[in-house]
Amino acid sequence: MKPDRIPLAGVIGQPIAHSKSPRLHGHWLARYGIKGHYIPMEVQSNDLSRVLALLPKIGFRGINVTIPHKEAVLELADVITDRAALIGAANTLTFQSDGKLHADNTDGVGFIASLKQSEPDWAAKSAPALVLGAGGASRAIVAALLQEGCPEIVLANRTRARADALKSHFGGKISVIDWTQVTGVLSEIGTLVNTTSLGMVGKEDLRIPLDDLASSAIVTDLVYTPLKTQLLLNAEAVGCKTVNGLGMLLHQGVPGFERWFGRKPDVDDAVRRAVMM
Ligand code: ATR
Repeated sequence: MKPDRIPLAGVIGQPIAHSKSPRLHGHWLARYGIKGHYIPMEVQSNDLSRVLALLPKIGFRGINVTIPHKEAVLELADVITDRAALIGAANTLTFQSDGKLHADNTDGVGFIASLKQSEPDWAAKSAPALVLGAGGASRAIVAALLQEGCPEIVLANRTRARADALKSHFGGKISVIDWTQVTGVLSEIGTLVNTTSLGMVGKEDLRIPLDDLASSAIVTDLVYTPLKTQLLLNAEAVGCKTVNGLGMLLHQGVPGFERWFGRKPDVDDAVRRAVMM
């Protein structure tokens, strides 16, 4: 990369119009007075390898990756971080100066950073977690909770076979229960995480009676539209602390911005407002 070049970064996916990342990175670029640009790019799967070969030649330092390319980019990467390999997907690519493509997954660290920012006393170690859902987002959360020392993760998914597949991938600390058994385990849970799309605008609500949850438990939802889902409202009603999904979205962007634009950005109310505008 020539030093006088304006640094570029962006996000690839299909569709891409809904992505909040351009607003997030655009806010940080303006705030720190960095002469760079962050661009949403719609990329089809059969163009992926050509696009990844071209972008560094035209000034891109890296890109975020979203659906449907998060798994496919691993096939094309030269360097894969341990956490991206464990999750089996990448969301942050960097075009290194030696020409190598570096692939990382920052979803899990974004999730942990968001919880710690909202609830500084939270510790994954202190009690078992209940994770709802067994898709791509769930893999990142499970990996992060294990990394943080969570003693046990109870996993429930509408389609049980997908939860069983996660158990075979991540091993002994995972136990799988049926979706209908969720209320039966709540009393032991310290952290409850919704990784399904239930509760999102346009989807059904996630309606679980949370009466058996200890009031010391923390309930968090990856959904951020709306910011306060029915799950979080139910959690507040039984006296639990809640963390919405916006923090994870913001924190997962931090490592990429720092690598591409050379400054670690802050996650604060100003960026929260800018992204939710
Ligand atoms: P992501 O990468 O965002 O996790 P995904 O891989 O499509 O997306 O996973 C979506 C998750 O939401 C899955 O756990 C899915 O359950 P299934 O594996 O049974 O499909 C869950 N989900 C979506 N709609 C649901 C619904 N109506 N009821 C229960 N779970 C639902």
